[in-house]
Amino acid sequence: MSEQNAASIVLGFPSYREAARRLAFAADIDYADVEIHRFPDGESLVRLPPELPQSVIFCCSLDQPNDKLVEMELAAVTALELGAQRLTLVAPYLCYMRQDVAFHPGEAVSQRIIGELLARRFDTLITVDPHLHRTSDLRQAVPVRRAVALSAAPVMATQLASRSDAPLLIGPDAESAQWVSAIAAPGGLAYGVARKRRFGDRSVQVELPDLDYAGRPVVLVDDVVSTGHTLLAAARQLRARGAESVSALVTHALFVGDAQDRLLEAGVEEIRSTDSVCHSSNKIHLAGLLASTLADA
Ligand code: R5P
Repeated sequence: MSEQNAASIVLGFPSYREAARRLAFAADIDYADVEIHRFPDGESLVRLPPELPQSVIFCCSLDQPNDKLVEMELAAVTALELGAQRLTLVAPYLCYMRQDVAFHPGEAVSQRIIGELLARRFDTLITVDPHLHRTSDLRQAVPVRRAVALSAAPVMATQLASRSDAPLLIGPDAESAQWVSAIAAPGGLAYGVARKRRFGDRSVQVELPDLDYAGRPVVLVDDVVSTGHTLLAAARQLRARGAESVSALVTHALFVGDAQDRLLEAGVEEIRSTDSVCHSSNKIHLAGLLASTLADA
């Protein structure tokens, strides 16, 4: 272990422990658990190792974020009180990035508010494919000294490279164009991008690009699956238009409620996701990608 790594520790939160351990192993940095006790009234007791090195790297994905944000704040302040000099947050899924403007008067601009909350404690933020829409730079959203937005596209492309059937990749909306094109490029795969209209949380209309789907294996590619309605709308049409098979490749597997079952019922044969969010569909580990950025933590 290098001298610099010996002055660092990765602390994993309970909901993301296995992935945090993989990160520490890949980065050759010591690891310890953040212990959390939830009291019956919903409050949290957070406990860190009482002796910490200068550089503390918290690893926690921020899906289902409300409790985690409070626990993260408790942990970060405690680390500083225990003598840590530099705090890094590795949050492969970064929450609250979608609400970047007030769409109606009186709405909180969550991206800015949560970004400022995190930047108050952390020097460095490392995340994967943050859902930035009108904001091009992660530091604009989270004004830390060093903000790293990694892309899972290369590791996802590697997953597809093992397939011999050259699937057609479809992104379900305009925003997915960046991911689907990057994933298609290394293997020279054909891809298309659909048009989506969202009428509500669970009401989505998808218009597929005008391509020939009959008899072709198709992979739906998206950064986030939440309710699953986006992929559901796309998958039903692909089936109706004769696709030979439909599967899905997803970065952030939020899969709220019965989203996964509904997709499987609709004929999505396989769902593969990264471990940015812990889920049974996780097939792609991000530890190596994340570890490569920790050298300067
Ligand atoms: C939206 O722009 C994202 O890329 C996803 O398509 C969206 O978050 C998926 O949401 P849901 O699964 O609820 O349709």
